[in-house]
Order: sequence, then structure tokens, then C-alpha cells
Amino acid sequence: MADPVPQPIEAPLTRAAIFLVLKVNPGLASEASVKSFCSDLAKLERAVGFRNLEAHLSCIMGIGSEAWDRIFGTPSPAELHPFKEVGSGKRLAPSTAGDLLFHIRAEDMDLCFELSSQIMTRLGPAVSPADEVQGFRYFDDRDLLGFVDGTENPSGQLASDSTLVGEEDPGFAMGSYVIVQKYLHDLTAWNGVSTEDQERIIGRTKVADIELDDAVKPTSAHNALNTIVENGVEVKILRDNMPFGHASTGEFGTYFIGYSRTPRTTEQMLQNMFVGRPPGNYDRILDFSRAVTGSLFFCPSMTFLDSVKA
Ligand code: HEM
Repeated sequence: MADPVPQPIEAPLTRAAIFLVLKVNPGLASEASVKSFCSDLAKLERAVGFRNLEAHLSCIMGIGSEAWDRIFGTPSPAELHPFKEVGSGKRLAPSTAGDLLFHIRAEDMDLCFELSSQIMTRLGPAVSPADEVQGFRYFDDRDLLGFVDGTENPSGQLASDSTLVGEEDPGFAMGSYVIVQKYLHDLTAWNGVSTEDQERIIGRTKVADIELDDAVKPTSAHNALNTIVENGVEVKILRDNMPFGHASTGEFGTYFIGYSRTPRTTEQMLQNMFVGRPPGNYDRILDFSRAVTGSLFFCPSMTFLDSVKA
């Protein structure tokens, strides 16, 4: 049998994205409707994407743990579970509702918007909205803190090895785990911090985006805490963060999205950021940013989605 084909996890960064998180409404009819939708997603994406091939529309569908049990029953992906809250008090990564994730990317927002509309029309009364964020590219791939975001992402074979399930869970091979979190920034406070101090918080220079030398980079730097080494090898995740916001209401945010072969890697990063490595040596980004959502999904292979029978 041919190897399963993954969803377009490794599609490159685009100028626009929509992150759509939905709840599946109670009842067998809703579950059946989502099930029958799975094999239609690729067709919808092709139909919308064909209207402007140069915009490289792509869409990834993720399914949360409770929804998986309701819709597909057993077996389920070995490491799929509800997102675990991390930290406490002012530094809390909350776990919030979410049964389905659609990560829609394109060079132009009109295609993202059209596909999200088609998905909502098709799913109709089977779902309710949990969260929707429209992200945009900000200059040269910067976040609203002003730093280039995505530089150290793995590419090529390393990206596949870092994000796609392999023989450890053969029934779900070529699937991927994804954690999403919506962060809101206090930009007034952040902009009051000197560029040098901001660079020590991120661990890279601001204008040229060069990694700080280990001699000057604090162990609490964002890129230091997010470096995970297991058995002497660095374990990577693939991020496709996007800025979003509403200037009139002072909402300035980063939508974090991280794909990984096992959710343990991203969970360890969150532990390091929110609790600290060692505890107390936390990520100072969190003095200026708070997470307001958090969910974990499994993105089965395209082959799996295409084979789902209503
Ligand atoms: C407030 C939200 C966040 C912002 C604004 C942010 C921003 C950044 C920036 C500017 C970089 C440096 C450039 C790069 O390599 O991409 C970076 C690196 C990184 N971030 Fe974040 N990030 C956020 C949240 C997270 C979260 C929640 C995680 C994981 C749970 C994470 C994981 C990483 C990793 C793995 C790297 C690369 C580290 C390295 O290998 O050098 N980030 N982030």
C-alpha cells in the first residue's frame, strides 16, 4: 500500500492566514455531518484555490481529543489529549474550547476568507464558532513586538521528521499534532523597554535578526528556553505564527501555531516559558503578553481524511 500523504503542514509562510476554531454541536447528526465533510475538504480547497493559483491556498484540518472520540471513536492517535493548562496566576496558558481547527493560508486574504465561508456553509448547524483570527504578514515576517518570527524553523527533511508521525503510531502515520494559542501583547509596556533589553528577552538582534552570542544571551531568553535537546539531539517544532490586531481597540496579538511529531515537545517548551527552566527562570515575553486561548489538535494525513466514510 502507498504511504499516506500528509496535509500541507510544510506549506511556506504566506501573507495571510485564518485560524478558525470550531465546536462540534451536540448530537449524532452533527457528528455525522463533520464525518461526511472530511473527504470534501480537499475538493473545496481545490475549487477555491483554482480561482487564483498564484495565491497558493492551503488548508489544514485538526481534530481535538473529545471530538475525535465522538466522531471517530477508537483507535485514536496515541498522544491526542485535551490541551493541558500550564503555569498559574499572571503566567497562565489556559486550555480553551476547540473541537476542530482550520489553518487556512494564502498569499491573499480573499481566498482564505472564501474558503472559511465555504467550510462554514458546508458544516452549517453542525458547528459553532469558538474563535477566529485573521492574521497578516507584518513587513519582513515580523511579529508585533518588532522581531522577525520563524527564522529558526526547520525545513526540508528536518521539517518532515520534526512534524510528521512515523512508525511510532503506524495507524496515524503522516499525521501531525498542533498546538494553537492566541497571545495579546501590552505594546505600550513593551515599547518602553530598550531595544537591547528586548533583544535579551528574545535572544536575537532586532533589526538584523541575528542570534545573540551564548556569552550574552540570558538562559531566560525566548529562544534559549525553546531549545529542547533530547539524547544530544535538538528536537524542533514548525511554527507559522501570525500577527493580528485592531488598532482602534488596542488589541495587538500573535497567533501561535506549532506543529510537532509529538505534543510533548511543544508542551515542554510551554513548561519552560511559563514555569521556567529551572522554575522561576521564565520567559520575559510573558511580562508583556498573555495567552487567552490554548488547544491541541491532531491533523490526520490527507489520505486518512479522504478515506473517511460518512
Ligand atoms: C507571544 C508569542 C510568541 C512570540 C511573539 C514569539 C516570537 C518568537 C521570535 C521572534 C523568535 C525568534 C525567531 C525565530 O527563530 O523564529 C521565536 C523563536 C522560537 N519560538 Fe517563539 N514566540 C511566541 C510564542 C512561542 C511559543 C508559545 C512557543 C512554543 C511553545 C515558541 C517556540 C519558539 C521556538 C521553538 C523558537 C526557535 C528557537 C530556536 O531554535 O532558536 N514561541 N519566537
